Amino acid sequence: MKKIAVLTSGGDAPGMNAAIRAVVRKANFHGVEVMGVYQGYNGLIKGKMELLDLGSVGGIIQRGGTKLFSARCPEFKEDRYQFEAIEKMRQAGVEGLVVIGGDGSYRGAMELTEKGFPCVGVPGTIDNDVPGTEYTIGFDTALNTVIDSIDKIRDTATSHENSFIVEVMGRDAGDIALWAGLAAGAESILIPEEKYDLEEIIARIERGVARGKRHSIIIIAEGVMPGSELAKMLKEKAGIETRVSVLGHIQRGGSPTAHDRVLAGRLGAKAVEVLLEGRGGRAVGIKNHEVIDYDLKHAYENNHKADLSLYTLSKELSI
Ligand code: ADP
Ligand code: F6P
Repeated sequence: MKKIAVLTSGGDAPGMNAAIRAVVRKANFHGVEVMGVYQGYNGLIKGKMELLDLGSVGGIIQRGGTKLFSARCPEFKEDRYQFEAIEKMRQAGVEGLVVIGGDGSYRGAMELTEKGFPCVGVPGTIDNDVPGTEYTIGFDTALNTVIDSIDKIRDTATSHENSFIVEVMGRDAGDIALWAGLAAGAESILIPEEKYDLEEIIARIERGVARGKRHSIIIIAEGVMPGSELAKMLKEKAGIETRVSVLGHIQRGGSPTAHDRVLAGRLGAKAVEVLLEGRGGRAVGIKNHEVIDYDLKHAYENNHKADLSLYTLSKELSI
C-alpha cells in the first residue's frame, strides 16, 4: 500500500486526535501517505478528503474532539453508498482505511472490507463498550471529567446536607457509572447490567444519615433511566429529597488524559501495521496491557461485558 485513509465516526471522544496523529506518523514512517476523511462516512460518500502530512497533525495530541469531525450517517447501511465510498477512495488512490469509532462504525468498516476494501477499526468512544478490548480511547478522560464533577458536587452536597443523583453517559453500558462511582466513592451505583433495588438504595441513604453523614451521592447510568425518574421514586417511596445533576456532553470534551493519549498512540500505530500487512477486517485493542488485533466482527457480534467485580467491590466499600 502506498496510500491509506483515516476517519472518525460516531460520538467523538477525547484522544481521537492523538489517534489520527499516530496513524499519520506511523504510516509516514513506513513511506505511506494518509488522506484524512472529513465527517465520518458522510464525508467518505462525498469524497471529502485531503492529504494529512506530518505537520498537519502537529499540535493536536492534547486537543479534545476530532480534527476530522465526526458524524452519524444512517444511509451508510445501504450497499449503494458503501460502493460509492469505495469508488471515491479508489479515485483518490487510497488502498486501505482506518476507522476510529465505536461498534456501529465497525459495522460500516466490515461492510467495506467484505466488498473488497480493507479496513481496520480503532476503538474510540467514551462508553468503553467495544467488545474485544478492555479500554476504548476517550473512556479514561470522560471518567476523570465525571470524577472531577462529582468531587465538586460533593462540596455543595456536604455544605447543604443534600443528596445528589448524578446521571452519566454510556449509552447501554454502565462502565462510566461503575468506574466513576468507585473512584468517587458514591453511596450507590445504578448500571444497566445489574437490576437495581430501590429498597437497598433507600436503606443506604438512611444508614448514612443515622451515622451522621451530611450527604449522599448516587450515580446512575443513562441506560438505566433518567436521573429525574429515580428522584421521583425516592421521593414517593421514602420522602427522600434529592437534587439531580445530568452531566451530559461535558463528558465527551476536554484534553485527553495521559492514559488516553498513550492508548491512542499505541492503537493508531497498530492499526497501520495491520493494514500494511494486508490484514483487513481486523480491530485493534488492549488486553492484559498488550496491544492486540482481532476479527472486526467479534466487536459487534458479541455484547460488551462490564467488569462486574467492580460492582460487587463498590457495594463492599460503600457500606
Ligand atoms: P459508534 O460507532 O460510536 O457505535 P454509531 O452506532 O452511531 O456510533 O455508528 C456510527 C456510524 O456507523 C453510523 O452513523 C453509520 O454511518 C455507521 N454504521 C452503523 N451501523 C452500520 C451498519 N450496520 N452498516 C453500515 N454502517 C453502519
Ligand atoms: O457514544 C457516546 C455517547 O456520548 C453516549 O454516551 C451517548 O448516549 C450518546 O453518545 C449521545 O449521543 P448524541 O451526542 O448524538 O446525543
